[in-house]
Amino acid sequence: MHSQQNETTDFTAAEAVLRIERTSLRVQQPATTAEMISLAVGEPDFATPPRIIQAAADALTQGLTHYSPQRGEKPLCEALAKRVSAQSGVDVSANEILVTHGGTGGLSAAILSIVNPGDRVVIPDPTYSLYADLVNMAGGICVPVPSRDDLHWDMAALAEAMQGARLFVVLQPKQPDRHCAQPRRDAGAGRYCQREQYAGDCR
Ligand SMILES: Cc1ncc(COP(=O)(O)O)c(C=O)c1O
Repeated sequence: MHSQQNETTDFTAAEAVLRIERTSLRVQQPATTAEMISLAVGEPDFATPPRIIQAAADALTQGLTHYSPQRGEKPLCEALAKRVSAQSGVDVSANEILVTHGGTGGLSAAILSIVNPGDRVVIPDPTYSLYADLVNMAGGICVPVPSRDDLHWDMAALAEAMQGARLFVVLQPKQPDRHCAQPRRDAGAGRYCQREQYAGDCR
């Protein structure tokens, strides 16, 4: 249903929602057919492993059906802190972990807590459409930066776009081309990220 005012409803959505409706690239994608493969939905091509299904069933049977701590269950935060520390080489404590209901919740929390109306947010292309929707929801200004023909970041264009930007959203690997930034070639962007706030979305 479209939230803008029409003959069937007198409901008008808030400006934050209308901004998304005006700008969003998210549309109902056609289903995959023999002639066409839809790259729109990143549905995993494997079934959920049995041990995860079993763990979820066990938790429900044990009565873990109530609210959990807002920042996440302590053992989960501790396990995640250990994993993030090992992967990144940066010491992360359990207190610095926030568990959300999926990537969308995490991105919403990050972008809505950093971006103020009028803030410029640099988002290299191609990318995941939710970033722009959330930036628009926050009233920020999306600054897309096209990749070069070889799919690498255009460092000169990125450096220019980043002047005065509030946030640089990195998707690694990029969607839908699955291209990964290379540490040596893309080091300039890395150094910028170390100096400034940035949000990373790694899949
Ligand atoms: C790059 C990327 N970030 C975030 C999300 C959203 O994650 P979730 O489905 O866990 O909310 C997706 C979902 O496909 C994604 O592809």
